[in-house]
Amino acid sequence: MCGIVGYYGPQNPKDVIIAGLKKLEYRGYDSAGLTVLHQGQLKRVRAEGKLKNLEQKIIGEKFDGHLGIGHTRWATHGVPSERNAHPHQVQGVSIVHNGIIENYLEIREELLARGAKITSDTDSELVAHLIAEEVQKQNDLLKAVQIVLGKLRGAFSILAIWEKQPDRLVAFKDGPPLVVGLGDKETFIVSDVQAALQHTKKYIYLDDREIVLVRGDQVDIVDPTGKQIKKQIVELNWSAEQVEKMGYSHFMLKEIYEQPQAIASAMEPHIDSETHSIRLKNVGFGTAPQNIDQLNTLVDWEKTCATLKGINKVMIIACGTSYYAGLAGKYYIEQIARIPVEVDIASEFRYRKPVLQPGTLVMTISQSGETADTLAAIRLAKESGATTLSICNVKNSTIDREAHGHLYMNSGPEVGVASTKAFTSTLVILNCLALAIGKIKNSLSSAQEKEHIQALLSLPSQVEVVLAYDKYFTEAAESLKSFKGFLYMGRGVSYPIALEGALKLKELAYLHAEGYAAGEMKHGPLALIDERMAIIMLAPSDELYEKTVSNLEEAKARGGKIISIGTGENEKLKKISERYLSIPKAHWSTNPVISVIPLQLMAFHLASSLGYDVDQPRNLAKSVTVE
Ligand code: G6P
Repeated sequence: MCGIVGYYGPQNPKDVIIAGLKKLEYRGYDSAGLTVLHQGQLKRVRAEGKLKNLEQKIIGEKFDGHLGIGHTRWATHGVPSERNAHPHQVQGVSIVHNGIIENYLEIREELLARGAKITSDTDSELVAHLIAEEVQKQNDLLKAVQIVLGKLRGAFSILAIWEKQPDRLVAFKDGPPLVVGLGDKETFIVSDVQAALQHTKKYIYLDDREIVLVRGDQVDIVDPTGKQIKKQIVELNWSAEQVEKMGYSHFMLKEIYEQPQAIASAMEPHIDSETHSIRLKNVGFGTAPQNIDQLNTLVDWEKTCATLKGINKVMIIACGTSYYAGLAGKYYIEQIARIPVEVDIASEFRYRKPVLQPGTLVMTISQSGETADTLAAIRLAKESGATTLSICNVKNSTIDREAHGHLYMNSGPEVGVASTKAFTSTLVILNCLALAIGKIKNSLSSAQEKEHIQALLSLPSQVEVVLAYDKYFTEAAESLKSFKGFLYMGRGVSYPIALEGALKLKELAYLHAEGYAAGEMKHGPLALIDERMAIIMLAPSDELYEKTVSNLEEAKARGGKIISIGTGENEKLKKISERYLSIPKAHWSTNPVISVIPLQLMAFHLASSLGYDVDQPRNLAKSVTVE
């Protein structure tokens, strides 16, 4: 994790860096710092805590010049403190680092043996020492970096400057993302395009073990031997406004409210709204998309059909909220397409020597497209010869670039650390994928296809309706304050939604919540129930409704306090529950999208009324680029 920004150009580097770091704070926020080459000397300021502490510290400080680097940290080695904050600086070399240097102990010992004075507990500072040693010998920053790259093991993206070469910025990566933004006589090197979107729409995505050399106006990408590499320039269509709060108090709230639009954008490419038929568009199996235009014009339905026809099993791999979306995907694909689905957590999959039989489609889900474990999982699947398909939100992210086939959440930038709109968009995409596989494999009749598509097309307006009930969710959130623990429950496809609801409460309100399959309650959780345990039950009027109500009765009989979320006016649920929250009636396959919204909003309201930082919960980061 960690966010990094480098700048060379005519604007004041301090302003560009601070504005860029603000956009990257979601990647880590336990300390921040910057170095600017000011009047020929490196001027560095660092501060513990959030970026605002750094901003406070530099008020009144003068920074001139045209070159600088900045960093916002998510601690891996060494506690969050000013001493461990980046940039790390050694003999005129300043660096910022995102990731982990795995052989840091070895490097540290070697450096200490050579008399280096190490002042922090980080692995990152060691890189500054190595580069500083090499620049003295090579008298050139690029050459020094080429040598140091060969000495590092782990996952890293690093920017370096050297005061003796005041027009140079050198960056390299092996793992976490780095993107080069190309402006008019100015260059930005950032962890995520969001940090430079207000300046440019043109980007080069660095691949592993590539080095970028910025020399004045010139930008070169070279391999570790110094050989030039020709790279594609990608032109993005995200606007800078999309990454602003646009009048909302929090990014998370804005993103929750963007869901009707996000859901519509997710399904739009894949549904023919006139014929009510499914036609997965632009999956591009086998063709890594080179640029946005190509993504938008690729018409490959036939190739997609041929690939999907040959699969007999789907393996879904993801982390966090994306994993819970994957669990819902199992219900969709198995029920609609009638092929078996396995879902796994990426950090488990990659180390458990998975057996991938021929005909298995390995599908990863990742909002950021950069999650280290998910990336490792897709690489492993490819090495085993599997066909891979990614569902990402960030186009051209590493996972997107490496997968054989591509589906997009199309949610627009998601900034709040707790994922919301990316989750619901993914549910929609998984629904479309299940329909497509079902159609291709003849397990879906055309009447069923039409029924599902009608349900999908009604979804954005149904989500609007649920959002309009927010005042009820705000009141419900207030009532949650008196409980010591929370059990989120559901059956069938509502079960992954219960898991996601519990995760939202944990992440945002720092309260203990568990998600459970309601039918499992009698195998353990019932023992937890007393009047201080809230049971948040998803009880839609689906084929499992009667069974869900029985589970509720069991909980109530033991003193549990019930908050139920059900369909329309429901006297029975009202009677059993302390509080009943009504959502519109929907098809079984679209109900999960609707029913997660009260859970998102309750977690949001509870956390914000407790005074917590909803957009940046403690200890978490949005993009987890380390194991
Ligand atoms: C982090 C974020 C979560 C996210 C998870 C997976 O833990 O805080 O919100 O669900 O990573 O991220 P991905 O980008 O792979 O979906």
